Amino acid sequence: MNIVILAAGMGKRMQSALPKVLHPLAGKPLLSHVLDTARSLSPSTLCVIYGHGGEQVPSLLAASDVIFACQQPQLGTGHAVAQAAPHLDDAAPTLVLYGDVPLTDAASLQRLIAAAGNDKLAILTVHMDDPTGYGRIVREHGAITRIVEQKDATDAELAITEVNTGILVAPTARLKQWLATLSNHNAQGEYYLTDIVARAVADGVPVASAQPEAVWETLGVNSKVQLAELERIHQRNIANALLEQGVTLLDPARLDVRGTLTCGRDVTIDVGCVFEGIVTLEDGARIEAHCVIRNAVIAAGAQIKPFCHIEDATVGAHSVIGPYARLRPGTVLAENVHIGNFVEIKNSQVAAGSKANHLAYVGDATIGSRVNIGAGTITCNYDGANKFRTVIGDDAFIGSDSQLVAPVTVGKGATLGAGTTLTKDAPAGALTISRARQVTLTGWQRPVKLKK
Ligand code: UD1
Ligand code: MG
Repeated sequence: MNIVILAAGMGKRMQSALPKVLHPLAGKPLLSHVLDTARSLSPSTLCVIYGHGGEQVPSLLAASDVIFACQQPQLGTGHAVAQAAPHLDDAAPTLVLYGDVPLTDAASLQRLIAAAGNDKLAILTVHMDDPTGYGRIVREHGAITRIVEQKDATDAELAITEVNTGILVAPTARLKQWLATLSNHNAQGEYYLTDIVARAVADGVPVASAQPEAVWETLGVNSKVQLAELERIHQRNIANALLEQGVTLLDPARLDVRGTLTCGRDVTIDVGCVFEGIVTLEDGARIEAHCVIRNAVIAAGAQIKPFCHIEDATVGAHSVIGPYARLRPGTVLAENVHIGNFVEIKNSQVAAGSKANHLAYVGDATIGSRVNIGAGTITCNYDGANKFRTVIGDDAFIGSDSQLVAPVTVGKGATLGAGTTLTKDAPAGALTISRARQVTLTGWQRPVKLKK
């Protein structure tokens, strides 16, 4: 099959410098949603018609399986499909999709493709209570005879509630002939793709139709309001799928998934969480309110308390994170690790049972098992030019407010006294302390305010 995606329109009502089809839905450009659906149908030719916004569309979405054809100027949907004609294989039918209609289900398209077979024209239609703005499907004795655009329709035609979604399948050799005969003698002065329907009827080619499972599958984005509406529909669909799978969502209306979220059994997600990229929540994981988690694995039984930010990180089984913790790229925590409030961890491995419960920065570090990192501890990993590692052995105890000036190693079972600035390795099993000795000055007097 050939697939042509129309994406040359300008999207004026988006009020944006960004071409409409590049605006994100669930974190991904509208056109990428359509491309992904198209790819799921394994087309032999995949052609995107772009135009408005110049080279931004092909440069952002370039892929080896996509042909980009420029339509300049944009003279209508028929003129747009004509730009793809040289790339289309006559032996296979052609499916036309819109780059600004992101939520069409592949199953609905499969039905349309089946209705078309190899030699019919098939149109995806829906019934709308308010069909204003859409092309109307004109039928005689039940059979589709033509499509009339809103601006060209008579009052009787405007009363028709079956509308053209714009998505259709056509036999390709015929399509090319029909496109070559289109005229722009209509209310909008455009070459209408919809005029191929009357051409098909004249040529004795049967015109079939199919309907999607839901009307929202065919809704397009013309404004930020419509984009926001489709975002909610999409998010609600994702939430429903998670609920059906057994995930507990405290409020399915307050969840945002911008990527792929995979959940095990008995996962709980509280309100206001955002999942980006590829995220896996294993059995029994619990994500509390207002967490942002991107490209991460949260292992079985782990608990993420409210307001955590986790990116490119792994949290081990039964670990407890937050509230207010930040796990940055390269963080790998083993099981039963506790990371508390205002702790930032970057590019570090933390072995089982270790804790950093309050106010710490751990960067470029390798931390053993059962290590206790006191409040206010900082790994000084950066000298302004280069970064160095800190290594802390099993069972070490790092006193509060210590600075570990990397590269430096703390031996197994070592203790650092509170306030230590560690610039040389701390031997295993011993107490190392760099704090100045405490003195008390007897007879010292507080200053008093001078009299004027
Ligand atoms: C079109 C259909 C109408 C249908 C409606 C569904 C025609 C003549 N009309 O109308 O029957 O009910 O869609 O939404 O086909 N595009 C180009 N190049 C162009 C013009 C459009 O690439 O020169 C693209 C647009 O970017 C958009 C799609 O084609 O993705 C539809 O264009 P639009 O202008 O929205 O068509 P409508 O007038 O809404
Ligand atoms: Mg439109």
